Amino acid sequence: MGTDGYSLYIDEISRLRMTNKLKNTILVAGATGDLGGRIAKALLGKDADVRAVVRASSDPTKVKALETLGVAVFTVNMDNVDALAAVCKGADCVVSALSGFRNTVIDTQRVLLDAAVAAGVPRFIPSDYSLDFTRFSDGENRNLDLRREFHTYLDKAPIAATSIFNGAFAELITGDMPLILFKQNLILYWGDTDHRMSFTTMDDTAEFTVNAALDPATPRYLRIAGDQLSPREIQAVVSGVYREKFRLFRPGSPGLLSFLTKVARTVAPGEGELYPAWQGMQYMRNMIDDRSNIERLDNQRYPSMHWTTIKNVLTAHQAANN
Ligand SMILES: NC(=O)c1ccc[n+]([C@@H]2O[C@H](COP(=O)([O-])OP(=O)(O)OC[C@H]3O[C@@H](n4cnc5c(N)ncnc54)[C@H](OP(=O)(O)O)[C@@H]3O)[C@@H](O)[C@H]2O)c1
Repeated sequence: MGTDGYSLYIDEISRLRMTNKLKNTILVAGATGDLGGRIAKALLGKDADVRAVVRASSDPTKVKALETLGVAVFTVNMDNVDALAAVCKGADCVVSALSGFRNTVIDTQRVLLDAAVAAGVPRFIPSDYSLDFTRFSDGENRNLDLRREFHTYLDKAPIAATSIFNGAFAELITGDMPLILFKQNLILYWGDTDHRMSFTTMDDTAEFTVNAALDPATPRYLRIAGDQLSPREIQAVVSGVYREKFRLFRPGSPGLLSFLTKVARTVAPGEGELYPAWQGMQYMRNMIDDRSNIERLDNQRYPSMHWTTIKNVLTAHQAANN
């Protein structure tokens, strides 16, 4: 949608809202991305009115796909509070699924938040979607440090914020996460064999986020996990699904993992990459730490949700690769 169409569109939305004839309006930033796209789609499935803000440089194919689904897409200068505020006007919640470095997580999210506040949007969901980093300290995870830093700004803003903590995306267990070594039939672990880690699929995270975006009374934090499994439990599940024996393999302590992470960062810094190997190692170190334990899950908050387990993920992976 071009800039000229903004005010007419927004005014019409505001008019309909005042006459109580309108569904919820949710604005999504990062809808051209993986999680953001799933959030936008799931919102449409809940009959919400969905707006997406994209950059002039965003992939036109992804923009077109959003428009075809029924998303109202606005190409906006993401450094301009006023331009963003104009699109935020009348929204019930702004959902961020932005991903990147400081310039995105801190700078762009700040502009988005300022715009939401300026437009009088009552609620904001930041792009967290991770393990609960609130109990960790700076220096333990580069990417999560940025999100905690953003919270110091967010928590002073006159808007109700809700962070979604989902552990690791469950799909990573068959991909980049060095946990199940399929070629060697090993479960690689560094901590306690019985320490449970939290996993949630991207679709479940998106669906929960959508429920939260449409829920006017969410608390500051919501913690979910499609599954929580220890290395020993993962060994049993993967051995059952693949009908092959997988063994537990512990190369060393969590302290050794921390040391190797520092070595990896020195040898292969990859500072320009969002997920270099050492960052994945930082994430694994966080996951095996007791501070990432979730005392009370919010899984039951929206009873319509059906959670995908690691067994489900592995079964689908096994079927796709045979
Ligand atoms: N828990 C986990 O295991 C896990 C794993 C992966 C990701 N995540 C989290 O999930 C969230 C979404 O990640 P994702 O993988 O879905 O991201 P993604 O696919 O890389 O998409 C990123 C989105 O952010 C937009 N974006 C990036 N920088 C921007 C900027 N400066 N201004 C405006 N838009 C910008 C991109 O827009 P363009 O299309 O214009 O580039 C795109 O829409 C992030 O918080 C990420 O950390 C969690």
